[in-house]
Order: sequence, then C-alpha cells, then structure tokens
Amino acid sequence: MSTNLVWHQHQVSNSQRQQLKGHGAALLWFTGLSGSGKSTIANALEQRLLQRGMHSYLLDGDNVRHGLNGDLGFNDADRIENIRRIGEVAKLFVDSGTVTLSAFISPFVQERQRLRQLLPPGQFIEVFVDTPLSVCEQRDPKGLYQQARAGKIPHFTGIDSAYEPPRQPEIHLRTERDSVAVCVEQILAYLDRHLDRDPAPDLNNHQDNAPR
Ligand code: ADX
Repeated sequence: MSTNLVWHQHQVSNSQRQQLKGHGAALLWFTGLSGSGKSTIANALEQRLLQRGMHSYLLDGDNVRHGLNGDLGFNDADRIENIRRIGEVAKLFVDSGTVTLSAFISPFVQERQRLRQLLPPGQFIEVFVDTPLSVCEQRDPKGLYQQARAGKIPHFTGIDSAYEPPRQPEIHLRTERDSVAVCVEQILAYLDRHLDRDPAPDLNNHQDNAPR
C-alpha cells in the first residue's frame, strides 16, 4: 500500500473540459462472451461518434492484455485484477472528458458493480452484448472455442469458467436478432437521451469543478 500521498485537485474543471469538447463524458462498458460482438460493435460505434465530432477512445480486451495487463492470465483472480486496472484507466479517460468505450468479457457481476461505483452516477453505462454461447461458438472468430472444447485452453469463459450476465444493464443488445448497425443505433439513441451536449464553449467560466 502506498502512504503519504496527497490527491491533487486539477485547475481545469470537468465543465470546462465538457465545454471544450462539446459533450459530456461516460464509460460505455461492453460485457459479453468471447465472440459475442463487443469489439465489433464498439469499433462501429466509435466511427459514428467520430463522425459526430465526439471525443472517444476504445479500450480493447486483447490489446490491453498485450501491454498494461500482459502479466495476467485467465484464472478468476487475474480476471478480477484485469478489470480492476482497466477500471482505473477508464476512470482517468472519463475524467479527461472522453466518451470511453471498453470491450472486455468482464464475466463477474461483483467486479462490474465495483466499476459502477468508481464513477459518478450516470457515467457508467453497462452494455450487455447478449449473444448465446451456441452462437459465439458457431462464429468462433479466433478458433478459441474449438481449442477450449479440445481441452487446450483452460478456464475458457462459457466452457469451464463462468459468465454472469448483467441483471439490469443500461443497454441490452441482442446480436443474434439485430445487426451491428442496429445495435449501434440503439446505443446512439441512449447517448442522445443521456449525454449532455454543450453547443458553445465558455471556457472562462470555471466556477464549478464538479462534473455535471
Ligand atoms: S476478462 O475475462 O478478463 O474480461 P478479456 O476480455 O480481458 O477477459 O480477454 C478475453 C479475450 O482473451 C478473449 O476474447 C480471447 O480472445 C482471449 N482468451 C484467451 N484465453 C481465454 C480464456 N481462457 N477465456 C476467455 N478468453 C480468453
């Protein structure tokens, strides 16, 4: 544990960041089985956000595991630590005013609950990419389910490691029924209802330092 630390208050406020960017920030936390479509939908969504002139960043499961979390495997303890670290990183991104997208299996309810508590109310948006195991297994884009069934990958989610579905996700996507484009529209519609859009920057007004 680190001791003798003091939290530094930023001089640039959240509302100034929001005014500069023209929109509020949030964390869109995609959760679902491997092959459920998390990365595909998150990538397609990010393109749409860019077209709208919105500032976004996608934290992706396989990429983060190459770097920051390269020391972690797939037993329960490592998955918990994987999600904890990503949560802290995502929180910094949200604090910077970015619409942050993350695509990790994040199989456990309790860990996702912890993430929700890390952020101010309303800024954690749980996106359940609900795709039945049978469909993920049929897609098997990386050939991993086949290897897991053959006993070559231990602790594979859905095979011999648990996936606990969200109970009350803000956004529930059904990729078996809906196309990627339809899922993206569903998320955009949610953001239109819930994310602040500030038309004109007034950066000299730095009275409040609290997120809106
Ligand atoms: S999480 O469970 O800790 O959230 P994360 O999203 O980072 O998982 O990584 C999942 C990706 O790692 C999968 O899409 C797959 O490509 C790969 N992978 C390798 N081994 C496993 C495994 N045992 N279980 C699940 N995914 C695995």
